[in-house]
Amino acid sequence: MTTKSDLIAPHGGQLINRIATPAERDEFLAKADSLPRIQLDERATSDLVMIAIGGFSPLKGFMEQADYEKVVDDMHLVDGTAWAIPVTLSVTEEQAEPLKEGNWVRLDDQSGKFIGVLELTQKYQYNKAHEAVNVYRTDEIKHPGVKVVYDQGAINLAGPVWLLEREPHPIFPKYQIDPAESRKMFLELGWKTVVGFQTRNPIHRAHEYIQKCALEIVDGLFLHPLVGATKKDDIPADVRMRCYEIMMDKYFPQDRVILAINPSAMRYAGPREAIFHALVRKNYGCTHFIVGRDHAGVGDYYGTYDAQYIFDEFEPGELGIIPMKFEHAFYCTRTEQMATSKTSPSTKEERIHLSGTKVREMLRRGELPPSQFSRPEVAQELANAMKNQS
Ligand code: ADX
Repeated sequence: MTTKSDLIAPHGGQLINRIATPAERDEFLAKADSLPRIQLDERATSDLVMIAIGGFSPLKGFMEQADYEKVVDDMHLVDGTAWAIPVTLSVTEEQAEPLKEGNWVRLDDQSGKFIGVLELTQKYQYNKAHEAVNVYRTDEIKHPGVKVVYDQGAINLAGPVWLLEREPHPIFPKYQIDPAESRKMFLELGWKTVVGFQTRNPIHRAHEYIQKCALEIVDGLFLHPLVGATKKDDIPADVRMRCYEIMMDKYFPQDRVILAINPSAMRYAGPREAIFHALVRKNYGCTHFIVGRDHAGVGDYYGTYDAQYIFDEFEPGELGIIPMKFEHAFYCTRTEQMATSKTSPSTKEERIHLSGTKVREMLRRGELPPSQFSRPEVAQELANAMKNQS
């Protein structure tokens, strides 16, 4: 039997909970009309949620300047805890000007609904080019993560936050499993070792292969597709989730796999985001984390295995979660199975692998990707989604 102490500790030692208590909520609601307001964009909204549910433990709010700068320069918080991605709330100078440090700020979502409160402890300017180069390894505006940095306001608002209420996800309520709950589930299932899988793309056989290789080693697989903001040409989350449901029904051992949504937004920061993704899954209770080829990459900004090498920049044990690193997987026509160059004697011509762009082109032409690339039911689901979209 697994005991509580067998569970991996959250990052920083304690699972953060910043969901307002009923009394706090009443107090915030009573002041709702008198507080200054900031409207959050999709990413800031999901960051607020992630902080509140403990997914970003040990963060209790949007980063103050010292933490922000240390993370950008050195991948650590001021107290020495490893952290790779800035979590900031940026506003324009005009928006920041009337806000007073020490006061509460009402946080509204994109529809204008009051969803949270920021206790403003600091407002500060920051260097966008420096953030871009350090975090994204480029300052090219065509990088989708860099574009967000350049498009956002010049002032960061910092301080602890509260989420007014944890509401069910509007599209995937069944798969909304927050860190406190996933930890409880792992405990009840007796899983001592759990591997987390991050993804923003429809599941293909290379994904399935590395997931199952990992599952040969550990007790459970936590499939954790990201359903927050992604770039426009990524496949929408509802389509990706349907593909995962098909896989759960037919291709996965249901007693050893949990499918849950990750509400975060993608940053496309490649190596740095791999560290961030791993730490988030540690907070959900995972002991291991899959890092394959070009994890969280975009275009050709990162080397194929840069997101694996970056784990070596931390002290042994510092991150607390173990990366499971996989080489580029493909279908090998000679051995008639999925493989990587570690296990396959194939020549380049004997390897079937398709890029996301190629798959989208095929689907647009009305062709299904081959069964060596994608499970047929998943390919059909993608084709249907493409047809409905057009
Ligand atoms: S990501 O932006 O979330 O990393 P994606 O959903 O494509 O994109 O990848 C999810 C995980 O699977 C990442 O760890 C990635 O490195 C890995 N991966 C994707 N395709 C392959 C492949 N062909 N071989 C090995 N690993 C892969």
